Amino acid sequence: MRFLAAATFVGVAIAAPASPTASDTADVHAAQATARTSSHTSHVKGQAFDRYVSIWFENTDFDMAAADPNFQFFAKKGITLLNNFAVTHPSEPNYMASVGGDYFGLDGDPFTQVPENISSVVDLLEDKGISWSMYEEDMPYTGYQGFDWVNQQNGANDYVRKHNPEVLYNSVVTNSDRLTNIKNTTIFYEDLKANKLPQWMFITPNMTSDGHDTSVTVAGKWLRTFLEPLLDDKNFMQNTMVLITFDENETYTIQNRVFSVLLGDAVPQKLVGTTDSNYYNHYSEIATVEANWCLDTLGRWDVGANVFSNVAAHTGDQVRTWNSQPDFEHRYFNYSYPGIFNSEKFAVQPVPDTSPSDRTHRATFPGIQKQWETYQKYNYYHGQLEIPDGYNPPAVIDYSS
Ligand SMILES: *[C@@H]1O[C@H](CO)[C@@H](O)[C@H](O)[C@H]1NC(C)=O
Ligand SMILES: *[C@@H]1O[C@H](CO)[C@@H](O)[C@H](O)[C@H]1NC(C)=O
Ligand SMILES: *[C@@H]1O[C@H](CO)[C@@H](O)[C@H](O)[C@H]1NC(C)=O
Ligand SMILES: *[C@@H]1O[C@H](CO)[C@@H](O)[C@H](O)[C@H]1NC(C)=O
Ligand SMILES: *[C@@H]1O[C@H](CO)[C@@H](O)[C@H](O)[C@H]1NC(C)=O
Repeated sequence: MRFLAAATFVGVAIAAPASPTASDTADVHAAQATARTSSHTSHVKGQAFDRYVSIWFENTDFDMAAADPNFQFFAKKGITLLNNFAVTHPSEPNYMASVGGDYFGLDGDPFTQVPENISSVVDLLEDKGISWSMYEEDMPYTGYQGFDWVNQQNGANDYVRKHNPEVLYNSVVTNSDRLTNIKNTTIFYEDLKANKLPQWMFITPNMTSDGHDTSVTVAGKWLRTFLEPLLDDKNFMQNTMVLITFDENETYTIQNRVFSVLLGDAVPQKLVGTTDSNYYNHYSEIATVEANWCLDTLGRWDVGANVFSNVAAHTGDQVRTWNSQPDFEHRYFNYSYPGIFNSEKFAVQPVPDTSPSDRTHRATFPGIQKQWETYQKYNYYHGQLEIPDGYNPPAVIDYSS
């Protein structure tokens, strides 16, 4: 089932010259010539910000990033999150989780397609008329769904699908209009210049720039080059909140805490240069966007996640602390629980919560409610802040047989 929002556009079927997942040079060049790109804009007022931008880096321990002079430069301009956690290892499930509210057991970085009956934040945004885009550095053309794309001069890793969260969701890529929002950073600069940036965007630097194949030093330098000029750019800063974050911690045997900073002209002056020690995770990114624009929820781990406190101060959300049981000290978030994508242990697709929540004033998206309400006795998402991990898996009840 596809949740088409009222605000989307009537699809025009165009003949694709090559499969959008083909990654060989000839197919990519053919598709490049005809790929359709959109630059939708909107001006929906948010409670704490009118534009949300997240920029993701790779595999760096908190202390390493915090010690980098360029990341420090941005920390001084915003709020450093001292307890923001990844949800598992390796990369792909963390990206998947940050827009879909779960990682469905994924424990590797393979070519993955999330079934069409699973929503992502795109359904929620479009439903309220909020424009969105992915900006993926060096993705060869708009709507490309291939596994990767290497630098054509030197063969180095460049763009990778596993770092492009919305392309993983079939509820997005089976819609040809939605595909026109999955763009590269060449288009970012065109949209910026034309003052046509959307209200929600996700930016993924390439495998060199994001630190994956390099180091936090390279990542910090890239960020300085990319973001510093935008800080004074009126086409970018329009009551904008930027999240700089990392997908996961590098060392698997310690807690999976990631360095993150919130900054931009939507961050109040009095919070600039401060820290926030509340517990957050990648689901907080969805919860914060939901709270800001009064969106519906996905009914998954987004429901219980803490909203970033500077935003919660405007939306009335309570920032909670992890219960003493289960004991947080021994949660490493370094191992995935079973699920539809788990390479070792299958578990059925988890059922989103459709019951009206007594914790948040938000309800589950109607399209999700409709599809899943008859399965509620199998639902294990109940608005908890305390998310599971592979050593403390959710209590799945199999409804499939
Ligand atoms: C990973 O998280 C832990 C605990 O939150 C933190 O102390 C550490 O700095 C991070 N990175 C490394 C290398 O430990
Ligand atoms: C959702 O889609 C998957 C994959 O197509 C299918 O196996 C599953 O039964 C569907 N679930 C529901 C409740 O429709
Ligand atoms: C970015 O996407 C556009 C639109 O599809 C394409 O024309 C352009 O070549 C791409 N840029 C890079 C660097 O691949
Ligand atoms: C990644 O992007 C940077 C510029 O942001 C560029 O210098 C570099 O060559 C790109 N890496 C690859 C492997 O193409
Ligand atoms: C997760 O961290 C714990 C504590 O250091 C360690 O015992 C365990 O082996 C780690 N698991 C994985 C999959 O790395």
